[in-house]
Amino acid sequence: MTQQYQNLIGGRWVDARDGRRFERENPATGEITGSYPRSGPEDVRDAVCAAVEAQRSWRRRPAPKRGEILFRAAEILVRKKEQFARELTEEMGKVLKEARGDIQEAIDMTYYMAGEGRRAFGQTTPSELPDKFAMSVRAPVGVVGLITPWNFPMAIPSWKVMPALVTGNTVVFKPSQFSPKSAYNLVKTLEEAGIPPGVANLVFGEGAEVGAGIIEHPSVELISFTGSNAVGKRIAVQCAELGKPVSLEMGGKNAITILDDADLDLALDGVVWSAFGTTGQRCTAASRVIVQAGVYEEFAEKLIARTERLRLGNGLDAATDVGPVVNQDQLHKIDSYMQVGRDDGATLACGGGTANVGALAKGHFFQPTVFTDVKPGARIAQEEIFGPVTALIKVGSLEEAIEVNNGVSYGLSSSIYTRDVNKAFKAIEGIDTGLMYVNAGTIGAEVHLPFGGTRGTGNGHREAGTAALDTFTEWKTVYVDYSGKLQKAQMD
Ligand code: UN1
Repeated sequence: MTQQYQNLIGGRWVDARDGRRFERENPATGEITGSYPRSGPEDVRDAVCAAVEAQRSWRRRPAPKRGEILFRAAEILVRKKEQFARELTEEMGKVLKEARGDIQEAIDMTYYMAGEGRRAFGQTTPSELPDKFAMSVRAPVGVVGLITPWNFPMAIPSWKVMPALVTGNTVVFKPSQFSPKSAYNLVKTLEEAGIPPGVANLVFGEGAEVGAGIIEHPSVELISFTGSNAVGKRIAVQCAELGKPVSLEMGGKNAITILDDADLDLALDGVVWSAFGTTGQRCTAASRVIVQAGVYEEFAEKLIARTERLRLGNGLDAATDVGPVVNQDQLHKIDSYMQVGRDDGATLACGGGTANVGALAKGHFFQPTVFTDVKPGARIAQEEIFGPVTALIKVGSLEEAIEVNNGVSYGLSSSIYTRDVNKAFKAIEGIDTGLMYVNAGTIGAEVHLPFGGTRGTGNGHREAGTAALDTFTEWKTVYVDYSGKLQKAQMD
């Protein structure tokens, strides 16, 4: 019997008002992993009303006390890590050890933001006038709408939910319909940790219905979205019309640069992990590898040999290196890029097709794929494919590598392999990116540093670190004049 999950609205677990439901299936096996409410506008309205109601007392609860609830939630996540990791693999496919990493990232963020309950620092600074005190404090925004993707089903929601809550906002959270169980696990954990009714509301359903309803609702004062560039841009336009602040994280076309002097085996490990980890379904995935001419042939050969050895399979199987892609649509999209690559003159060096035979017959599997001789302007070197596909580009110099790096419409993560510290710093300075790695791949960001990117990746905001607090709070600048007389700034 399929487990039936419900929305959490105002502290009560409820079905969608019109009773509609959808099912999620395991992308490795096709088995149903759960049934969830397919919510509509009236469910969103209920959730927003509950969040508005809960705002009044939640924002007045001292931040250290809000932080204590988060701390308890982190403790529960630690206890349930293994169970939540398995359920995460079953619903979106990533291999179990990476699923554990996903839960761990949520644990890290929850502890980190629990601590912000006792920090959330503002500034104090001297006033230009005597007997006058000047400071800034952080104030909650109000009710915030959070829309999250399926590729980090517990980590990314935690990046939004935890800073929003600790700073005194109440939340209406819509997770991807491809990873509802992890969202349920996260919110259920908050409930068990003692989050008051209405503070964290969870509404399952589709973007066009639930996401749109959240964005449009006048009482939702801020939107935080992670997903595709196409959807993010539409949300930005809509939020601009509504006068609503919006924080967007919209993917990447990340490159690893390998210079002639690099440790090639180290670089190889970094490329294999960054290109094919999470089946390439990370916004930080290395979908381009820019290799200097002197080592290009040798590196390409090594990469192809390693890629051909990667084992596809169910993420729960310990022998699996690469799990399925999330759904049929993604599988088709990735597959369609094979012809696109060839049409642009690239060589399909290994992989290049779906792999739904034998034990993999019921899942959405795609072979890890390497294109060589890719021109920097080719579509496979420009567009986010979001699958196990990487493109090798040959360059002559560091300067050219930087130019190629920057010649895409995204700017999330970049990496360089070199033993020359001068070149490393030139790359750090010259590459237009939000995250930069030296002698490591493009993936593996930690929660206490800012996460996000430039150009088509974002809209100027960052998640994680103290940067997340900037998204979820308004600065309130406070002047206290204790002179007892009228003092005039800029004039006295
Ligand atoms: C994402 O790809 O959407 O740095 C997030 C990383 C992870 C987070 C990735 N810590 O790859």
